[in-house]
Amino acid sequence: SEATPTLYKGLVGVYADVSSVSKVMPETNSLTYRGYAVQDLCEESNFEEVAYLLWHGELPNAAQLAAFQAEERANRALSPALLRVLREIPKGAHPMDAIRTAVSFMGAEDPEAADVSDAAQRRKAMRLLAKLPTAVAATNRLSKGLEPIAPDASLPFCENFFHLVFGKVPQPEVIKSFDVSMILYAEHTFNASTFTARTVTSTGADIHGAIAAGIAALKGPLHGGANEAVMHMLTEIGSPEAAEEWLDGKFDHKALVMGFGHRVYKNGDSRVPTMTKYAEKMAEVVGDRRWMETSRVLAAKMMRVKNIHPNLDFPAGPAYYLMGFDIPMFTPIFVCSRITGWAAHVFEQAADNRLIRPLSHYTGEEQRPVKPMAER
Ligand code: SDX
Repeated sequence: SEATPTLYKGLVGVYADVSSVSKVMPETNSLTYRGYAVQDLCEESNFEEVAYLLWHGELPNAAQLAAFQAEERANRALSPALLRVLREIPKGAHPMDAIRTAVSFMGAEDPEAADVSDAAQRRKAMRLLAKLPTAVAATNRLSKGLEPIAPDASLPFCENFFHLVFGKVPQPEVIKSFDVSMILYAEHTFNASTFTARTVTSTGADIHGAIAAGIAALKGPLHGGANEAVMHMLTEIGSPEAAEEWLDGKFDHKALVMGFGHRVYKNGDSRVPTMTKYAEKMAEVVGDRRWMETSRVLAAKMMRVKNIHPNLDFPAGPAYYLMGFDIPMFTPIFVCSRITGWAAHVFEQAADNRLIRPLSHYTGEEQRPVKPMAER
């Protein structure tokens, strides 16, 4: 009966706050982190430098980078208690559930759990950045009946990740493609998981809670879960020759095609050209062109028929597959990168906080009396 106020379902088009972390420019399909174009960061820096940039606002000099790397390398090991927790996770569980649990446990055992000062939150963010790859790799190995591998403090971040998963470090081209994916996944303004992390932070809660909630939001197939869904789709299609007919079947049922579309970009995702270039390099290194060819046919037809562009998850899925990762690890790898952007937003939210608490327009029953049990 009351007039409906203006609603912003899905918060479409709503500016919820200011931010100086990153800027999406859909008009030009571009994205900057702290003023630097992502494609330039991919060619001129590495993921550790970008993590420092997101947390401190400036690229590190050599001494600052060395100190940052030393702290990251010193914090990689999981506690024996957390390793026991990971061993208890059911084998068939999705690794995102295991990682969400691991972050929750890390929060409970963190020596500064109750301290939400900026300095303590930053130290906790560093511990999360360092430990997440160890937890992701351990989860993957335990799910296959393999023993976790201890982190190697002599290895840089990306090399160490491959060591943790496979027990060996691949050739530099593979590391570079992985590093690029980590830079591109690091940060993307007020996406659903980042906004979730900011909402948790706005209540005065600690960073582990904010990150666990961000992981919960990222798991969904409309968000980070899409990179896994893309690879399941490509393996289901099987070959470039089968792609057009497969897509026609989807169009007939008005089904979503994973890895396409974006809330903010309507003319193409700024990160796709760079990730596609490095996914193509992976196809060359491995000598298997099938997935990138299938992708090419799908993207061309989606553009032709629906005018919908691919998002970052579309080239990242086959890139990770060609690197040898199991498909259920793709979204956990996204977590290992996005922890940097999430944490930057946690710091920013806490530094100028106001509780996030919107309104809802009630459309339920009119007010009515409570009937006694016998009359219901
Ligand atoms: C990420 O926001 C971020 O920054 C997220 C992210 C990040 O870095 O954090 O970029 C990471 O989450 C990428 C998105 C991954 N998700 C997918 O690939 C899942 C498939 N995509 C869609 O479900 C969809 O495009 C969304 C969820 C990404 C965006 O949803 P919107 O903005 O609510 O758009 P919509 O669903 O209203 O779509 C508009 C139209 C619809 O058609 P009409 O009803 O107007 O006729 O486009 C169609 C949609 O049906 N459409 C698609 C489609 N995406 C949109 N049709 C088929 N396949 C698709 N993928």
